[in-house]
Amino acid sequence: MDIAEILELANNLIFSKTGKHLDRLQKTVLKGTIQGQTYSEIAKDNGFSESHVKNVGHELWNLLSSVLGEKVTKANFKSIFKNIRSKNFSQIDSKGCQNNPTINNINIFTDKHRSSSSPQNPQKTPTQPHIDLGDAPEIFSFYDRTTELATLVNWIICDRTRLIALLGISGIGKTTLSLRLIEQIKTNFDYIIYRSLRFSPTLNATLTNLLQIFPHEADIPQNIETQISQLLNYLRQHRCLIIFDDLQMLFASGQLAGQYQTGYEDYQLFFKLIAEVNHNSCLLLNSWEKPREIAKLEKANNYVRTFVLGSLGLAAKEILKERKLSDEETWETLIDIYQGNPLWLELTASAIEEIFAGSVSDFLQCDAPILDESLQAQLDQQFQRLTQQEIAVITQLAKESQPVVLPDILKIGELSVSDLVNVMRSLGRRLLIEGKEEGKTTFFSLNSVIKEYVKTRYMR
Ligand SMILES: Nc1ncnc2c1ncn2[C@@H]1O[C@H](COP(=O)(O)OP(=O)(O)O)[C@@H](O)[C@H]1O
Ligand SMILES: [Mg+2]
Repeated sequence: MDIAEILELANNLIFSKTGKHLDRLQKTVLKGTIQGQTYSEIAKDNGFSESHVKNVGHELWNLLSSVLGEKVTKANFKSIFKNIRSKNFSQIDSKGCQNNPTINNINIFTDKHRSSSSPQNPQKTPTQPHIDLGDAPEIFSFYDRTTELATLVNWIICDRTRLIALLGISGIGKTTLSLRLIEQIKTNFDYIIYRSLRFSPTLNATLTNLLQIFPHEADIPQNIETQISQLLNYLRQHRCLIIFDDLQMLFASGQLAGQYQTGYEDYQLFFKLIAEVNHNSCLLLNSWEKPREIAKLEKANNYVRTFVLGSLGLAAKEILKERKLSDEETWETLIDIYQGNPLWLELTASAIEEIFAGSVSDFLQCDAPILDESLQAQLDQQFQRLTQQEIAVITQLAKESQPVVLPDILKIGELSVSDLVNVMRSLGRRLLIEGKEEGKTTFFSLNSVIKEYVKTRYMR
C-alpha cells in the first residue's frame, strides 16, 4: 500500500466525517507519519512549529478514531490502514461491489480502485432506461466530485440503499451532482425520474405526476393510499431512480428546521414506506434542511443514508479559470474563504471581474469575505426560514472570535436549556453552524461567509 493510497483512504474517511478534504498540512503530517518521522522532524522539514504540527496530528487521530470506531494514534495509524485495505480489497466481488464496501456507512475507495474487469454498472438492466428529467437544468461544466459520486454509486448500486438524503447549503452543488450521478448509473435502471419540488406540490400532485410516467391501463387513482401502493408496486416491478430536488420547499418557514408545512405531512409517511417496504428502487432527496424522519429511519434501517455535500475543494479552481481571473497563487485562499461553494465562488468571481479587473489578489487585500449582493440574496432565502430564537443564537455565535461550547451561549442568551438545544439542533440540520468534537466536548462556530452575512444583516 503506497503513500498515495493511504492518503486517499484517509481523505475519504475524513471527508465523510467533516465534508472537507485533507488540507496540505494534514497530508504532510500523515506522509511524515507513514515515513516514520517524529512530529519535530515533520515540523522542521516543512517550516512549522512542532506544537502546531502536534495539534494537527492529534486532531487527525481523533477524527479518524471517531470515524473508524477504534483508537487511532500516530503509532498504530499505518498498521490500522494496512489492515483496512487488505480486508476490503479481498472482498470485492465479481460485480465490482465490495461485500463490505463501507466502514460505518462510508465508502472508502474511489472508482479507480475497482478492478477493470468489474464494470461500473454491475446490475445492468437489458433495456434502455426511460429517462424523464422534467425541468432539470442542463449542466454545462462539471468538475471533480469523484469521491462523492463513488460513494453515492456504491450506496445505490452495491448496497441497494432505498432512501438517500443529499444535504447541503444552497449552491454547494446538489442538483448538479445528482444530475451527473444519473449519467454514471443510468444503465442500471429501468426508469429515471427527476422532479424539483420548488413549487411545493402536494403529495397527491407529486404521485399523480409520477404514476403517469408508468404504462397504466386504468385511470390514476385519486386516493393517496392507493396512489402510494400503486407506486410501490412499480418500484418493485422496475428498478427506478427517483430524484426529488428542493425538498426544503415542503418545510415551514419560521419554524425549526425540517417541519412540514400544514397539508404536507403525508410526505413523511411516503418516505417511511419507501424506506421500509421491500423494492428495488431508490429515492434521492436533495435538501437544504435535513428532514426529521430521515434521522429516525436511518437509525432503524440499513437502507436509509444521509450524505452531506461539502466543499468542491481545489477543483473549484476550474471555475475561476473559466472566468479568466488572475493571481492563481491566491486562488486556494479564495476557495477556502468561500467554503468551496461553487455558486458563492461564481458570484464572487463576477464581482472580482467587474470591480477588481479579475485580480483575486487585489480582491483579497480588502477585508474578505466580501458578500456580493446576489450572494446575500441567496443567503436571504435560507435565513428567511429561521425562527427568532435561531436568529438570536446565530447572531450570538457571529460575535465570537473562537468556537464556543453550549454553556457559553446559554450564559449570554435568554433561552432555557431545552430551547437552546432545540435551536442548535435545528441550525445544525440547516447546516448553518459547524460543530467540532474535541474529546467529550462539542465546539460550535460559523464559517466566515455565514458570519459575515449575519453581521451584515443583523448586527449593523
Ligand atoms: N461539480 C461542479 N462543477 C462545476 N460547477 C458546479 C459543480 N457543482 C455545482 N456547480 C455550479 O454551482 C452552481 C450551484 O450548483 P447547484 O447544483 O445548483 O447547487 P445546489 O443544488 O446545491 O443549490 C451551479 O451554477 C453549478 O453549475
Ligand atoms: Mg439545487
